[in-house]
Amino acid sequence: MKVLVVGGGGREHALCWSLSGSPLVDGLYCAPGNAGIAATATCVGIEADDLDRLVRFAKERGVGLVVVGPERPLVLGLVDRLEAEGVKAFGPTAAAARLEGSKRFMKAFCARHGIPTAPWRAFAADEAGAARAFVAAEPLPLVVKADGLAAGKGVVIAGTRAEALAALDDAFAAGDGVVVERFLAGEEASLFALCDGRDALLIGTAQDHKRAFDGDEGPNTGGMGAYAPAPLLEGDAAERVMDAIVRPTLAAMAAEGAPFKGFLYAGLMLTDEGPQLLEYNVRFGDPECQAVLPRLMTDLAQLLQGAVDGMLGHMDLRWYPEHALTVVLAAKGYPGTYPKDTPIGALEGIDDDPDVLLFHAGTRREDGRLLSTGGRVLSVTGLGATLKEARARAYAAVERIDWPDGFYRRDIGWRALRAG
Ligand code: AMP
Ligand code: GLY
Repeated sequence: MKVLVVGGGGREHALCWSLSGSPLVDGLYCAPGNAGIAATATCVGIEADDLDRLVRFAKERGVGLVVVGPERPLVLGLVDRLEAEGVKAFGPTAAAARLEGSKRFMKAFCARHGIPTAPWRAFAADEAGAARAFVAAEPLPLVVKADGLAAGKGVVIAGTRAEALAALDDAFAAGDGVVVERFLAGEEASLFALCDGRDALLIGTAQDHKRAFDGDEGPNTGGMGAYAPAPLLEGDAAERVMDAIVRPTLAAMAAEGAPFKGFLYAGLMLTDEGPQLLEYNVRFGDPECQAVLPRLMTDLAQLLQGAVDGMLGHMDLRWYPEHALTVVLAAKGYPGTYPKDTPIGALEGIDDDPDVLLFHAGTRREDGRLLSTGGRVLSVTGLGATLKEARARAYAAVERIDWPDGFYRRDIGWRALRAG
């Protein structure tokens, strides 16, 4: 089968790396890909949100399975378009992608179906007055979320009224309405499920590091590092989340006429009252994917095909026992402004250790030189019998990377390593 992976980040590199080892895959394309992906897949110069060209390419090349990495093409309806043309695609339809695309939809959905999440109120774009009155009366802290796809940057945790009101002004200025919710105290973890519209299999758990700098300081980013599995979801805790949150979601989405197929990413707050759903993402996490997939023993292509064919109820998946830890290298200045086209030294040999994997995100090659093209540029995953060992391997490789214009956090895994 020929497979087309859509996207060009570290997550898509990990997906391509995993798929390229499958006996089921005899042709692998990635659109647009990056310089690292080019070593395992044929990169195609089509952007991930250029739906027309992606559909045309998949049809012309006889692609048997399209795997969509990022949320934007999903929310725009790439899977609907492919399916309408008879091309099999792994990912949710636009209607199912509303679980991520609209916070208001997600909160109302949870309320309708008894899925545990923070108490909330939603306000439409023209209800700023009502939102201000609500915020004035509620206990602090409050969490203010701009609706719509905000790439994780639309959330403010307000400790004072003034902060809450300022956050409301910003959120309303963005134009899609606002959700205000109660602050939940606890530790965060993420759970990833593989879904076929009816059944779901746990594909892994992880913890991310959202802040840019060591000690969880600085601005929120797309994620600066991750480790898997999440110690807080060890044992049967993950299956309990599958039963309390993921499976009820699948049943309810199907009942509402928008069955969910694809990776479902549950962002959780583990509170004293049990796990609460902070957010859904309708795709794999980045960099969580780079930590979760290397632990997967079962053939990924077989699982994705099983999901597309509605067969997950008959399938099982297995993991390697190793821990994985991923460190992201980003351009200095990220998540703000940063220079592009900065040179990265030769990476040959960085991943010679079989327990080290190097994934590219924002890279391209020009005249044999490797250049940065984005904010998050590389990620390195270390594997080990313990998390500490995984961390040592990842950092030993990261420290050898010669990229003067990049930076990385030196404390990935600190929470779990402190506890353990
Ligand atoms: P979201 O995009 O909704 O996941 O929010 C981004 C981040 O804001 C989460 O990863 C949490 O760190 C934080 N957050 C969101 N909602 C809450 C909440 N109700 N209580 C505490 N923290 C929250
Ligand atoms: N690392 C967080 C995300 O992928 O949304």
